Amino acid sequence: MKSLARFMKALGVAATLMGVTALTAVAADAPKAVLSNSDCVKCHSAAPEAVAANGGAHKTSVSCQDCHAGHPPTVKKIIPECSQCHSGKPHYKLAACLRCHNNPHTPKIIKLANNITEECLSCHSQQIVKLKQLPSKHTKLACSFCHNVHGKIPLCTQCHKPHSADMGSADCKRCHQAHMPTAVTYASDTTNKMCASCHKKAAEHLIKTTTKHKDVACVTCHKDKHKTVPTCQSCHGTPHPASMLARFTKCGECHNIAHDLNRWDSSPQKAADKAAPAAGAKKGKKK
Ligand code: HEC
Ligand code: HEC
Ligand code: HEC
Ligand code: HEC
Ligand code: HEC
Ligand code: HEC
Ligand code: HEC
Ligand code: HEC
Ligand code: HEC
Ligand code: HEC
Ligand code: HEC
Ligand code: HEC
Repeated sequence: MKSLARFMKALGVAATLMGVTALTAVAADAPKAVLSNSDCVKCHSAAPEAVAANGGAHKTSVSCQDCHAGHPPTVKKIIPECSQCHSGKPHYKLAACLRCHNNPHTPKIIKLANNITEECLSCHSQQIVKLKQLPSKHTKLACSFCHNVHGKIPLCTQCHKPHSADMGSADCKRCHQAHMPTAVTYASDTTNKMCASCHKKAAEHLIKTTTKHKDVACVTCHKDKHKTVPTCQSCHGTPHPASMLARFTKCGECHNIAHDLNRWDSSPQKAADKAAPAAGAKKGKKK
């Protein structure tokens, strides 16, 4: 009713329209009564405001009447199909354009439901390759579960706690890739502290040791890829006579483990105790 009143009022104002049966139809013998783009705002406020503010190409490349040809009651169906003007790309074959482009008057403002994947692939092809190449729990999530606003990159820490308090959201990418999160790799400047958040024992050993391994970084030995375990020989070659190594096949038989090497130089006796502790030796040792 209200709109009808406005309609009538506008008709009154637009005197030239009086007596014309249709807003757009121009009877051959009637005075000019063509509805122009500037008339729309007299009766409609929302659409012109939206177009003015965020119309994008729908403001600069087309006008109201390019999309709305005619007007009720003369022309009943004046809502255009997007396909009238958009065709030829896979993206334009999607169903229900307005599901994402919620308002045709603000076409670049896109709202995404949280379950969209297939539609994204009409423009982005790389990410799904990675997600499928190494299946993880991220593979089961929809693209828009993480990218809930188009173009927005979420922080890992929106959904996950860091491994330790001193780790920030920028650190995650050092070891993880968003679309392949279980393939853990890292650069050579990754600090021991980051590994220590999960490997307390290894880190403690290395902090305490007085041998030269103290200054070797975790990632120098466990290079590039998580769970890489080096052999001692990869760095030390053959440090002892072959005859000796033939009798003792494992370096650890004398040197213990890499994180906690025995010391031979400073106190031979202590080192020998450590390498082959006598039964009860530990118990008897008091400080
Ligand atoms: C004099 C007032 C008036 C003017 C000027 C006017 N309209 Fe309307 N418009 C209305 C009214 C009233 C309705 C509701 C009519 C109906 O639903 O039958 C309407 C409905 C519409 C609709 C909805 C149609 C539908 O099928 O849902 C569109 C789109 C529209 N107008 C576009 C325009 C455009 C574009 C212009 C400018 C070129 C314009 N109008 C100018 C009064 C006006
Ligand atoms: C690119 C095409 C396009 C342009 C340009 C366009 N519209 Fe629309 N308009 C639509 C579509 C599509 C709908 C139907 C939206 C829906 O179904 O939710 C619509 C709906 C409407 C409606 C009815 C629903 C509402 O939002 O009130 C009005 C009124 C309207 N448009 C007016 C205008 C006016 C005025 C202009 C110019 C300032 C304009 N439109 C420009 C495509 C367009
Ligand atoms: C009357 C023709 C016409 C209709 C109908 C139309 N568009 Fe457009 N649209 C254009 C033109 C022209 C452009 C600018 C050139 C291009 O990107 O193809 C455009 C651009 C766009 C853009 C990019 C906007 C920008 O600022 O870069 C989007 C998104 C869009 N249209 C979505 C839609 C949707 C969704 C519909 C249906 C609701 C629709 N269009 C209906 C003509 C139209
Ligand atoms: C699942 C959500 C979704 C659906 C459904 C969708 N779009 Fe889009 N559309 C987008 C996104 C996201 C963009 C990228 C916007 C950007 O470039 O920032 C886009 C961009 C566009 C563009 C501008 C860029 C280009 O490639 O031309 C046009 C035009 C467009 N869409 C038209 C349509 C039409 C027509 C339909 C229906 C056939 C449609 N869209 C359906 C999400 C969607
Ligand atoms: C019509 C094509 C189109 C569709 C559909 C589309 N995008 Fe985009 N997207 C683009 C364009 C164009 C850009 C900006 C250019 C670029 O960085 O690649 C972009 C950018 C992005 C970015 C930011 C990239 C960066 O480097 O910052 C993300 C994230 C993104 N899109 C995710 C999505 C998701 C998720 C979907 C599905 C919901 C989607 N896109 C649908 C065309 C599209
Ligand atoms: C678990 C959340 C998550 C899911 C699911 C997800 N992404 Fe991402 N995406 C991200 C994060 C985080 C980044 C930032 C990565 C970076 O900066 O290294 C990103 C980056 C992007 C980029 C920017 C370019 C790039 O590859 O780094 C695009 C485009 C993108 N995602 C599209 C998609 C698409 C398409 C899908 C679905 C097939 C998808 N994403 C699924 C979280 C996700
Ligand atoms: C929008 C939320 C969201 C964002 C953003 C996000 N994730 Fe996830 N991630 C999840 C969910 C949900 C799971 C599955 C959890 C479960 O089932 O226990 C998951 C699982 C994981 C897993 C375990 C994968 C597996 O298969 O075991 C890793 C690793 C992971 N995320 C790392 C990251 C990293 C790194 C980032 C940033 C690049 C990130 N996530 C961004 C939601 C998210
Ligand atoms: C120093 C490397 C490193 C950094 C930095 C790192 N991660 Fe991890 N992350 C790992 C490793 C290794 C795993 C365990 C993989 C396995 O179980 O095999 C893991 C596992 C995960 C998991 C799976 C669940 C769990 O806790 O085991 C999530 C989620 C995760 N990381 C999120 C993050 C987030 C968020 C950040 C940034 C705040 C981050 N990661 C930073 C190496 C790292
Ligand atoms: C999020 C926790 C987490 C982080 C951070 C982490 N790891 Fe691990 N790491 C694990 C888990 C879980 C295992 C598997 C333990 C098992 O199988 O008993 C593991 C196993 C290992 C193994 C043993 C592989 C084997 O075959 O026994 C090495 C070596 C290792 N990690 C090195 C590192 C290094 C170096 C870093 C730092 C760059 C690091 N880790 C960071 C969780 C983590
Ligand atoms: C990634 C290379 C690397 C690996 C793997 C490695 N080391 Fe070392 N090691 C070093 C470096 C570097 C030094 C210090 C050399 C120097 O400063 O002269 C060192 C020193 C030593 C020393 C002398 C310690 C001291 O304080 O004088 C011994 C003994 C040793 N390594 C044994 C081992 C054993 C046993 C393993 C296997 C369990 C091993 N290393 C694995 C790099 C490595
Ligand atoms: C000098 C080389 C070297 C350094 C430095 C080093 N590791 Fe190791 N690590 C090894 C070797 C070699 C093994 C296999 C066991 C052995 O023979 O000592 C190993 C075994 C492991 C294992 C599996 C067995 C276990 O003890 O749980 C983990 C986890 C591990 N290292 C984590 C770390 C972390 C975390 C750091 C840094 C705090 C680190 N390593 C520093 C060489 C090193
Ligand atoms: C039978 C016991 C024994 C075995 C087995 C053994 N070592 Fe040693 N290694 C020693 C002793 C004792 C020293 C100290 C010699 C010295 O101080 O001059 C030593 C010294 C070293 C040094 C330090 C050399 C230097 O110049 O500082 C390295 C490195 C080393 N061993 C690596 C290894 C590696 C790698 C293996 C396995 C392939 C291994 N050792 C096996 C007993 C052993």
